[in-house]
Amino acid sequence: MLSTIKDNVHLLRFEKSHDDLFEGCWPINDGVSINSYCLTGSKKKVLIDYVESGASFDDDLARLGLRIEDLDVLILNHMEPDHTGALSTLFARNPSIEVYATKLGATETETLYGHKNVHVITSGEELDIGGMTLVFYAAPNIHWPDTMMTYLKEDGILFSCDAFGAFGAYQSVYDDELTEREWALLKPETERYYANIVASFSSFVIRGIKSLSGLDIKTICPSHGIVWRKDPSYVVNWYLKLASYAEGPREDEVTILVSSMYGNTISYVQDLERIAKEAGVTTHTVRIPDVGSSYALEKVWRSKAFVVAAPTYERALFPPMAHCLDWFVRKEVKDRAVMHFGSSLWSGGAAAEFKTYAEKMKLDVVDAFDFRGKGTEDDRKRIEDSFRALLAKVKA
Ligand code: FEO
Repeated sequence: MLSTIKDNVHLLRFEKSHDDLFEGCWPINDGVSINSYCLTGSKKKVLIDYVESGASFDDDLARLGLRIEDLDVLILNHMEPDHTGALSTLFARNPSIEVYATKLGATETETLYGHKNVHVITSGEELDIGGMTLVFYAAPNIHWPDTMMTYLKEDGILFSCDAFGAFGAYQSVYDDELTEREWALLKPETERYYANIVASFSSFVIRGIKSLSGLDIKTICPSHGIVWRKDPSYVVNWYLKLASYAEGPREDEVTILVSSMYGNTISYVQDLERIAKEAGVTTHTVRIPDVGSSYALEKVWRSKAFVVAAPTYERALFPPMAHCLDWFVRKEVKDRAVMHFGSSLWSGGAAAEFKTYAEKMKLDVVDAFDFRGKGTEDDRKRIEDSFRALLAKVKA
């Protein structure tokens, strides 16, 4: 889908289906867009980023009176295959196109695609494409090591690669066009995108945003999600806040992760939600595996504390919950208050495995125990008392 952002600056959007998984593992129930940008300077026709394997922007380019063969420059802000998977086709049709990339991106372009016409950028370097000046800024590890951003000086447009992106497919192109319903989707889908894709690189996000603070950014064009033209500072500050959750402070909220095989473990959750409500603390309850680790990460990332309610399965933690906690370790969730409880019949074992995850994440464990079957009144009291202690830490 083609949209013109400004004279000579065009957005090309490829919508991924809600049936796909992003990066092969993250659900995109509301889709996601892969954004590329075509800049038509008087000297050079430029494409910023491309698209995944099997897709193309031929139709959109045709509307601009262009073909792949007409492009002079391809800027690769990073090499992840959602933006580069179709490069073999592009290079076959336009073998002389000049690629601009960081040193790492250049190496990958040459190694993976055998394309030799690659210019290695230096941060701050400019390229005049005819009435339009592009400036390149290295932005390593937001979120790939080869990442850079491209800035159109005359119009203050930042092509920010994956930074400031979101899951979700939106009819609207710009922040000022979003309907109430789209905003309601954009909020959690930005936070889930951040927690799933960018969270582990939060220190680089903070550093990268600070390094761009001298730029007059009037519009942000990310490689996923919407274009921010009315208030680009909104998404910049939002990303800074999401990055700040890595070390804290975080929100006075508790995420309750719950798995249940026969209804015993989950039978306690409603009371926990009530107790939290009475204490004025927001809860987010996420079923595992029904809703899944992607959504659990989104909520846990922002929360000061979380509950792992999961039974024992074959002398260990219920496997889908163990898988979820493994994601947390990989995504550098740490330093939060936590409690665990869960039903077991024969041996127990969930609490012991939970503690190994808690140790890896340096969590502050308020309590962790297995109870038998439905549990006793003493078990109920222990769960509720521990949960109140957890809430006290949230409110401290
Ligand atoms: Fe949208 Fe890191 O690729």
